[in-house]
Amino acid sequence: MDKLLITGGTRLNGVVRASGAKNAALPILAATLLTKELITIKNLPHLHDITTMLELLGSMGCGVVVDEKMSVQLDVSTLNNCEAPYDLVKTMRASILVLGPLVSHFGKAVVSLPGGCAIGSRPVDLHLRGLEAMGAKISVEGGDIIASVDGRLKGARIFFDKVTVTGTENLLMAATLADGKTILENAAREPEVVDLAECLISMGAKIKGHGTDTITIEGVESLHGTTYPVMPDRIETGTFLVAAAITGGKVRVIDTNVKSLEAVLSKLEEAGAKVTCGDNWIEVDMEGRRPDAVNISTAPYPAFPTDMQAQFVALNSIANGVGRVIENIFENRFMHVDEMLRMGADIEVSGNTAIVRGCERLKGAPVMATDLRASASLVLSALVAEGDTKIDRIYHIDRGYECIEEKFGALGAKISRVLN
Ligand code: UD1
Repeated sequence: MDKLLITGGTRLNGVVRASGAKNAALPILAATLLTKELITIKNLPHLHDITTMLELLGSMGCGVVVDEKMSVQLDVSTLNNCEAPYDLVKTMRASILVLGPLVSHFGKAVVSLPGGCAIGSRPVDLHLRGLEAMGAKISVEGGDIIASVDGRLKGARIFFDKVTVTGTENLLMAATLADGKTILENAAREPEVVDLAECLISMGAKIKGHGTDTITIEGVESLHGTTYPVMPDRIETGTFLVAAAITGGKVRVIDTNVKSLEAVLSKLEEAGAKVTCGDNWIEVDMEGRRPDAVNISTAPYPAFPTDMQAQFVALNSIANGVGRVIENIFENRFMHVDEMLRMGADIEVSGNTAIVRGCERLKGAPVMATDLRASASLVLSALVAEGDTKIDRIYHIDRGYECIEEKFGALGAKISRVLN
């Protein structure tokens, strides 16, 4: 199995381009199930999760043509089944995103129920309750969610007990073809939800209020084809910026989305970084300094994202001072901490809070990636650690970071993919 070998101690310096956002691309690909006309999606990141979603669409009979620039043309007119089998869902929870579009467009869906995962139990009850409120009949049999509706779904007023990103996306997609008006309250405001809504609007959907906590959808009878470019990845961008800060370096991320990163940029400034932004680029310059520790508390957008929490634990681990990191979204999202302790970090976890006491330096060690963002934090720790770090189970990283060794390598990191 591939591993990443990183020799720490280099200040990162240079320019890197942000890839398309995985978490926007996945719902947008699922949204293609809402029309039988041809759709072209551009700026897809070259990632395992994207391949899995394309494989899932292909397994339903959809035509999928990918070109060398990761632009994909999808043809749903040849769809011959509405099933997302366990084999695919167990490798990618976001497969649940086909549920809303399938039941709304084809009146039926069989989607394997995603199980627990490394970062918490992650139920999908709110997705199911919302679809039921729109008239779908739902049961769980043999581990599968079986959903059906006679005729069209009906518009409904749906209040989410908890802010859920993929839950909002699933119901947003379902509502576009429902009969009547749907109002989603306490909806997720994440930029990826907005990107999905913009794609749906370009397909003829009638949506208002995306980007706020109340989204109103006026159902239409059919949607049409479109060509849509996926937004840049704010979490990948943030990870490169933290890499600059943690190594005392200077990195400019281009072709990115500045506004979606406000909470992260303000924490980087608090850590002592000089942050400069243009229309579509962000530069972090640490001017050789060690960062100051920062307190973090994760919450739904526009607050600080849980997907950047692990990277800031890494930053705090070598910072001046003590940082308190509170994880409010997932109950078990400190798996990276045990691995960082192996590198000499001083971190104490109690419940959903990590107290990170910055130390002068980390030391390279063999460590194991446990989930996607946890693995990014191990790469960051390794970049600043003394000596070599070998990261095992990097398939987690490949799920979310495109060409990670090429991109970090171009910034001066000593990083390579090795077999043993
Ligand atoms: C999405 C992102 C993930 C990110 C997360 C939070 C994708 C593909 N993934 O995951 O990278 O970390 O948002 O920003 O976009 N919940 C329920 N019932 C539900 C749904 C969710 O209780 O039906 C709870 C979850 O357990 C969690 C919280 O709500 O505690 C937020 O989860 P949610 O926003 O749904 O996360 P995902 O959409 O799975």
